[in-house]
Amino acid sequence: MRILLAGGAGYIGSHVALVLLEAGHDVLVVDDFSNSAHAAIDRVQHLTDRTVELIECDLSDLATSRAALRDQEFDAVIHLAGLKAVGESVAEPARYYRTNLTATLNLLEIMAEHGVNRLVFSSSATVYAPAAEGVENLDESQPAGHGITNPYGWTKAMNEQIIRDIQVSRPELEAVLLRYFNPVGAHPSGRIGEDPSGIPNNLMPFVAQVAIGRRERLAVFGDEYPTHDGTGVRDYIHVMDLAEGHLAALDHLRPGVATYNLGTGVGQSVFDVVRAFSDASGREIPHGVVAPRAGDVARAVADPSKANRELDWKAKRSFADACRDTWTWQSQNPNGYTGG
Ligand code: WQD
Repeated sequence: MRILLAGGAGYIGSHVALVLLEAGHDVLVVDDFSNSAHAAIDRVQHLTDRTVELIECDLSDLATSRAALRDQEFDAVIHLAGLKAVGESVAEPARYYRTNLTATLNLLEIMAEHGVNRLVFSSSATVYAPAAEGVENLDESQPAGHGITNPYGWTKAMNEQIIRDIQVSRPELEAVLLRYFNPVGAHPSGRIGEDPSGIPNNLMPFVAQVAIGRRERLAVFGDEYPTHDGTGVRDYIHVMDLAEGHLAALDHLRPGVATYNLGTGVGQSVFDVVRAFSDASGREIPHGVVAPRAGDVARAVADPSKANRELDWKAKRSFADACRDTWTWQSQNPNGYTGG
C-alpha cells in the first residue's frame, strides 16, 4: 500500500517509515520539521535503499495541507504528527490543543476527500487514569480520559474521542489507536534515533547524553514511590518493536475503532535504567535524587496481551537491546542529526 505517514521524520516516525519500506509499502512522509530533521529521511532511504516521498507542510493548516495533498493518492494514514513535550504543553496549552487537535481533524477531512478509510493513530499510555490500587499492568479496559495531568496527554485522549465520534458518522472508517508506553532505543545500525531538541524531557535520552558527556548528571525525580526501589517504574518498549506494531495494526484494520497497548509488560525503575545503560555503555552515569516531578505516577506498565492476541504482535527486543542500540546511536551521533 501507499501510506501517508504524518510526522514520519520524527523519532518514532522514522523507524515506522523504515519498517513500512522494508515490508514493501510505499511511504509518503508529511512533516513540518518543527521537531525533526531531513537527515532522518535521508538515512532511512540509505538504510532501505528505497525512496521516501516527502511533503513538508503543517497539518494544522487545512488550506495548505489540502493543496499539498490534492494530487496525492494513498491507501492508509499513520498519524504520528503532533507536539509531544509534556512540560511544554503545561506552559503553552493553547498551542498544544490547536496544533494536535486541528492536525487530526484536518487529516480526517483530507482522508474523507480522498476516499481513504484506513487510519492508525499514535496515542499514549498517558491517557490512562493513575492505576487503581493493586493494578499492576494496565489493560485497555482500564479507565482512561480522566485524571490526566497535562495538556499533551489531554490532546491524546481528545484525539482518541474525535476518531471514535467521526467513525460513528463514517462507519466505513477503519481505525486503530495505539497507546504507546515508553518508546526507547534506536535502529541497531545507529543511523537513526532519538534526537530531542534542547534538554531532554525523557529519561532515556537524558541518560544517554550523560553517558556521552553532554550532560553532567541525572536528576532522579523522587525515590519514595511504592516501587521495588522507590523510583518510578515504566514500560520501556524498543522503538523497532513499536514500529513493527504499526505494521501489524495496518494488517489488522477493520471497520470500527480498536485500541491496543504497545508495551512489553515488564517494568524498569529509574535506578534499573541507570544500571542497564551504564552496563551497555561502559560509562558511569552520575545521578542524584531530587524532588518528585509534578504529574508523575509511581508505575505505568502495559498489559500487552490484547495486541499480542489480536494483532499477532509481541515485543521481541529486551531492555538491554534498547540500551545497546541507544548507545550505538548516541556514540555515533553525539550531537544527534545536526551535529554531523
Ligand atoms: C520516565 C521515568 C520519571 C527524566 C512521558 C509522557 C508519555 C511519553 C513518554 C511522549 C519517570 C523519571 C525522567 C529525568 C527522571 N511522551 N525521570 N529524571 O513521564 O513516563 O512519559 O514520556 O509521547 O506520554 O507522559 O517518561 O521518560 O519523562 O520519565 O527521574 O530527567 O523517569 O520520573 O519515573 P514518562 P519520562
